[in-house]
Amino acid sequence: MPLANTLPDQMDRMAKAVILGTGSCLPVRTVSNADLERMVDTSDEWIATRTGIRQRRIAGAGEQNYQLATKAARRALAMADISPEELELIVVATISPHMLMPSTACFVQAELGAANAFAYDISAACAGFTYGLDLARNYIQNRPDMKILLIGSETLSARVNWEDRNTCVLFGDGAGAVVVSGATDGRGVFGSNLRSDGTLGNLLSMDSPESCNPDLRREEWHGAFIRMSGGDVFKHAVRLMEDSVTTLLRRHNLTIDDIDLLIPHQANIRILNNLRERLGIAEERVFINLSQYGNTSAASVPIALDEACRQGRMARGDIVLFCTFGGGLTWGSLLMRW
Ligand code: ACO
Repeated sequence: MPLANTLPDQMDRMAKAVILGTGSCLPVRTVSNADLERMVDTSDEWIATRTGIRQRRIAGAGEQNYQLATKAARRALAMADISPEELELIVVATISPHMLMPSTACFVQAELGAANAFAYDISAACAGFTYGLDLARNYIQNRPDMKILLIGSETLSARVNWEDRNTCVLFGDGAGAVVVSGATDGRGVFGSNLRSDGTLGNLLSMDSPESCNPDLRREEWHGAFIRMSGGDVFKHAVRLMEDSVTTLLRRHNLTIDDIDLLIPHQANIRILNNLRERLGIAEERVFINLSQYGNTSAASVPIALDEACRQGRMARGDIVLFCTFGGGLTWGSLLMRW
């Protein structure tokens, strides 16, 4: 049943998940398309026209996944004016965890000294941040005073085959974080539409290391790297994100004209332009920073959100739409009153 039609008075009084602070952290080293020309058979012209990416950040010493995540978290905590001890939950969305165990979230907890929190990772590829925000929203509905740190953080440069020009030009490293708590003043997350389709998992995948999975010990195993059927991913990404957004808007009796800012997953400018045209949303109401960072998977939306926030792109009361798509397949959209 549409959310907007169920017990509207009760829904309005319920605490909603609001973002108290945002932060991000990008590695210091920039790798341009020209740098990649010296590594694989590619060109700045090919990469820029096919993807919109001009450069990406690549992690170096002291920039492990959890270290980028911790720096992003400190910035979000500072904006929120929340101390690490006040956090009750830390969630890190990542497909490039620092280790398989402990979770990257536990590393972040230790770095921050967030002694009162429980911490765990979630894996939903490029849709990780929207899945995580929906998760936080559900905790907040039960415990509105809870302070939750949600981070999207990736060091995909370690999971990319730098000899494969089909994939290595697309990805970058980075982290974005938000501090979430509850409010009853009408702001906050008021709808989400998350989906997965495991039957299409082969279109975009990343093996675990051979040592972790004996089934992988076969001749055709090419490493624990991202593999992708680019054309298929492209088509599904545009269609499924459009479907997710239009369904969500319809559920809430909204149209695309009600959206003040769309913050999409930053994968590819042609995917975003296609999506924009299909949805009928003006360029100036879509936040895009893809040319600078490439595809940072779960980190892309929180990095974009932090930049949008610090640039003053959202005013209090604005309706912000998030929209993501990634391996799994996983995808979804989420509506928030800022
Ligand atoms: N430089 C030069 N040539 C290249 C490169 C490169 N880096 N990569 C591929 N090519 C070549 C291919 O080998 C192919 O050559 P051929 O015709 O001789 O075989 C040619 O370019 C065309 O390849 P296509 O795959 O048809 O190129 P396409 O126009 O589809 O663009 C791309 C490829 C950019 C990957 C596109 O399919 C795409 O954007 N897909 C979406 C993938 C994506 O964004 N994935 C990220 C993860 S999913 C997500 O986050 C949404």
